[in-house]
Amino acid sequence: MKVLVTGGLGYIGSHTCCELLDQGYEVVILDDLSNSSIDVLDKLRKLTHKEISFYQGNMIDEELLEHIFQEEKIDAVIDFAAYKAVGESVSKPILYYTNNVSTVLVLLKVMTKYEVKKLVFSSSATVYGDPKTVPIKESDPVGNTTNPYGTSKLFVEQILKDLYRSDSSWDIAILRYFNPIGAHPSGMIGENPKGIPANLMPYIVKVASGELPCLSVFGNDYDTKDGTGVRDYIHVVDLAKGHIQALSKLEKEGQGLYIYNLGTGVGYSVLDLVSTFEKVNHVHVPYQIVERRPGDIAECFADATKAKEELGFEAALGIEDMCRDAYHFVLKNQEK
Ligand code: UFG
Repeated sequence: MKVLVTGGLGYIGSHTCCELLDQGYEVVILDDLSNSSIDVLDKLRKLTHKEISFYQGNMIDEELLEHIFQEEKIDAVIDFAAYKAVGESVSKPILYYTNNVSTVLVLLKVMTKYEVKKLVFSSSATVYGDPKTVPIKESDPVGNTTNPYGTSKLFVEQILKDLYRSDSSWDIAILRYFNPIGAHPSGMIGENPKGIPANLMPYIVKVASGELPCLSVFGNDYDTKDGTGVRDYIHVVDLAKGHIQALSKLEKEGQGLYIYNLGTGVGYSVLDLVSTFEKVNHVHVPYQIVERRPGDIAECFADATKAKEELGFEAALGIEDMCRDAYHFVLKNQEK
């Protein structure tokens, strides 16, 4: 089976390509390199010893998409190509809606033309807004998103539901990620955000490695066990495997639209993550408590039952593996 992976050189995309190739799928990557590096392609080739077709460009480019579908015999698409910086989405909503929604419309148009109707879509737990209860089930209400990034994911989910309603020969899996962290155990691929990181784990690793002086913990007065925010951190390699399980469900069963949470079902606080990171990596992570970050919620973790029952998906790696692999990646890439 040949899979087009859009955004395949990004953080989650690259780990998913690695799993796809390891499991015998053929992979075609489309990436515009706006938040990724061409070096990742070489690293994927070295890691997997497999061939990978690569096209540089943005999914908005219909001619390029047509060219790919004509050249390659694509059987399915996994779509990761999107911007994901929550804060930036607030200041640049048009950019976010164009890149995260308009591009998907172009993709769906071309997929329809070439009768490729299997799609795994990269969504986010952010579509649940501020959840009334945790753990969060797929059937819980979505909406009240607090930023254009989250709303863009919600819009695409709705577009996919409408598409499926209009034509039930589509096979679609919408995957709602919780908080992916960690890196491939080889240390060859991982998360390498440009500039000052907005997310917790990339910030922690930069403090641990001395690149940044101190972590700011955004609030310790939430109604959680230690007052800091609680999230469902999931190892990116587990998350990547979830995509292959979703794809194989679409291959086997077909003709449905499915929605799954991909999380571990366990919540950890900011201070849990800091102390585990310090323990497994034998480093000190200085931190200070500061004001809450606007738009943050107290707790967010998955009910992971549906993905387990229907996909056989279960996270195998724990919080210690996530902390170890995240730091290993950074140290390995600093040495070079
Ligand atoms: N945090 C800090 N200091 C930091 C960064 C984060 O204390 O420097 C705290 C946050 O307040 C929060 C927790 O760490 O309690 C996690 O924050 P992240 O920014 O790492 O992740 P979020 O849960 O805010 O958001 C992430 C992704 C979104 C996605 C969402 C899904 O960044 O893209 O998970 O629920 F939508």
